[in-house]
Amino acid sequence: MCGIVAYVGPKDAAPILLEGLQRLEYRGYDSAGVVVSNRGLKLRKVKGRVADLAKVVPVRFKGNLGIGHTRWATHGVPSDENAHPHLSADQRIAVVHNGIIENAGELRAKLVADGVAFASETDTEVLAHLIARAADENDTLEEAVRKTLKLVVGTYGIAVIDAERPGEVVVARNGSPIVLGIGEKEMFAASDVAALVRYTRQVVHLEDGELAVLKADGFHTFASDARETAKEPLTVDWDAGHYDTGGYEHYLLKEISEQPETITRTMSGRLDERFHVAHLGGLNMDARETRSFRRVKIIGCGSAYYSGQIGAQLIEELARIPADAEPASEFRYRNPVVDPNTLYVAISQSGETYDTLAAVQELKRKGGRVIGIVNAVGSAIAREVDGGIYLHAGPEVSVASTKAFTSTSLAFALLALHLGRVRDLSPADGRRVVDGLRRLPGQIEEILAQGDKIAELAQKYAKHPGMMFVGRVRGYPVAREGAQKLKEISYVHAEAYPASELKHGPLALIGPDMPTVAIVPDDELLDKNLTTLGEIRARGGQVLMVGHREPAAKLADDVIVIPKNEIELDPILLTIPLQLLAYHAAVALGRDVDKPRNLAKSVTVE
Ligand code: G6P
Repeated sequence: MCGIVAYVGPKDAAPILLEGLQRLEYRGYDSAGVVVSNRGLKLRKVKGRVADLAKVVPVRFKGNLGIGHTRWATHGVPSDENAHPHLSADQRIAVVHNGIIENAGELRAKLVADGVAFASETDTEVLAHLIARAADENDTLEEAVRKTLKLVVGTYGIAVIDAERPGEVVVARNGSPIVLGIGEKEMFAASDVAALVRYTRQVVHLEDGELAVLKADGFHTFASDARETAKEPLTVDWDAGHYDTGGYEHYLLKEISEQPETITRTMSGRLDERFHVAHLGGLNMDARETRSFRRVKIIGCGSAYYSGQIGAQLIEELARIPADAEPASEFRYRNPVVDPNTLYVAISQSGETYDTLAAVQELKRKGGRVIGIVNAVGSAIAREVDGGIYLHAGPEVSVASTKAFTSTSLAFALLALHLGRVRDLSPADGRRVVDGLRRLPGQIEEILAQGDKIAELAQKYAKHPGMMFVGRVRGYPVAREGAQKLKEISYVHAEAYPASELKHGPLALIGPDMPTVAIVPDDELLDKNLTTLGEIRARGGQVLMVGHREPAAKLADDVIVIPKNEIELDPILLTIPLQLLAYHAAVALGRDVDKPRNLAKSVTVE
């Protein structure tokens, strides 16, 4: 959450910082700021977007060293004052920070008692004042930062500059990511490679507790005890093109449209036609161990959790192992029983979500076996787990998750096939699933081709103040994700319910103002679902059905018919029209599709 960029080198820092911040805006976008060093610190910060910041940064804003920030408020409302960077009272030190300083109140009270005047309500500002004090007493900025961080309880990714040491940036990480970018006689740092790929693809990820000193000619990294650490740079696969809208009006539409390719990448090299199994080498598990699990427990947040529900269903059906999904944010706080015969699966697109990371750490502390299903290579969760499946879906920029959701669901199909084929899933059923997986990309193309029709339906339905989403068993997580997409990007109230539960309460809401989106696949529950549609229409509710054929009787006002796959894999396809529905509803209502209000893509706070 929040984006950090830092630069030191021969060029002007400001344009590089602004460009980098733009790339990180998905992490938070309520205020933004930059500071450069050039015979003193020059600061500009505003409430608003990076584009608003760019307007107030003068053309002549010279300085070869600087740091920038885009914020998602935790301490203090979004305002010019609370925007980062924060300066020390003597204007010597500037700090940008992601994360939360838990003992900020206490540190602040001590500083105030000593006569320090605060300019903001943020927890970050205490760091600026403390580092300035330490800088007076220590020889290096590195020492001053290290000394300050010893006083701090909480999470942080920080970047610090000192007006009196104009050739260096100090960065440090504890719980919030910091990546160094290595250029030609220039160095960068950021909270995500997205801000770096335009300038370099050579990166170094800092570990928790590490601190780094960056100068134009290179960098040094140190562990928390000040010992120097040796880090090998990695080359990132993604280049700047992966972060462009590629001619689409929004990242969201681009990411929805990419799904035939992204799910192809997720399964690429992992399907075996001879034994009808999935090869998942990253799990680091032999067949004996793979057979030994008695349960599967899946954790994740937001859309990741809903894809986990699809995953649990797939594992129960194909591998016949009891499986369930739970929000990681709940799991970690309820002192879960950690069982040695359970396989724990943590899902995260970003690999950074703090609640999911903390749940993984709790599981590992208690001796649980945890694997990850993660998109961002080398991310915190990817490094914490015992093994896992990378999605290879490419960067997902829009705040609402789409391609990562389908790739995660697909990764679960691979995992279920893998677990099933070392147990009782027959070769014939294995083949059926493998063949079904291969058909998915083409079928997604067919659904995408219905974009115009879905856009028309979205216009019709988005006029209502709220919508109900229903589905049974395999269809229920699809309904939940459909409702989530609609509410997060269009702000239309959307509620998801198991279709079977409708009559136990929410049917009272049904009427002309509350249309229902019903997930009605051609499976063994078809008749039950059609009965539910009848019940809704009998109460004057409109129905938009998503399924595999028009119902014989007039049970729906509108129908989106999609191609049929194997029943276990249908949920992946049923999700796609709902993504398009939410997208077009948000466009029709004039919403900020890629950056919905109040949200951020990577939630790296509790
Ligand atoms: C945030 C985003 C959601 C996302 C969730 C989990 O809440 O707004 O779209 O599903 O985080 O993110 P992750 O990166 O862990 O999958």
